[in-house]
Amino acid sequence: PDQAGLTPAGPDGSNDGGHPPRGWPPSFPVRRGGFRRYNTRTGPFPPPTPPPMSDLRPLGERAVREIAPGTVVGLGTGKAATAFIHALGERVRAGLSVRGVPTSDASAALARDLGIPLVDLADVDAIDVDFDGADEVEPGCDLIKGYGGAMVREKIVAAAAKRFVVLVGDEKLVPV
Ligand code: A5P
Repeated sequence: PDQAGLTPAGPDGSNDGGHPPRGWPPSFPVRRGGFRRYNTRTGPFPPPTPPPMSDLRPLGERAVREIAPGTVVGLGTGKAATAFIHALGERVRAGLSVRGVPTSDASAALARDLGIPLVDLADVDAIDVDFDGADEVEPGCDLIKGYGGAMVREKIVAAAAKRFVVLVGDEKLVPV
């Protein structure tokens, strides 16, 4: 298989004695979590290189400035969301009163460790603002997300939020 996980066809591209052409159906690299990473336009593609966590710190610190005291905050999942939760933990330690609705067990555990009060989505009327990362964002601000595997809870929390703030570093910007 080549880098994309495709089995190359023969030199003349022909198939083999009535069998399907080699390389068809294509096989894609399957992530350890068990799902496929596939871009419908370009085919299989590698994940964007994540920045070190320290580079995401300013993103988290900028994001927490959007939070008003006493509000309910959606806690996304992934590296950017983790940086945000750390920044929020610092604000909570400094006296900010908020309640968080986590989108994954990992985000819930981190928030608990940092002393951020958590609340169940079923126990609030609405989420004031939800913060989450994305995987690719094009110039028109259409975006895709979900590599981290917490997509269902992320979508439920985002849908319940009055405002959705996407945490995006430069490495997530794509031309189209
Ligand atoms: C989690 O399911 C995903 O939607 C992530 O929010 C998204 O993949 C961005 O993750 P990173 O901030 O880790 O790149």
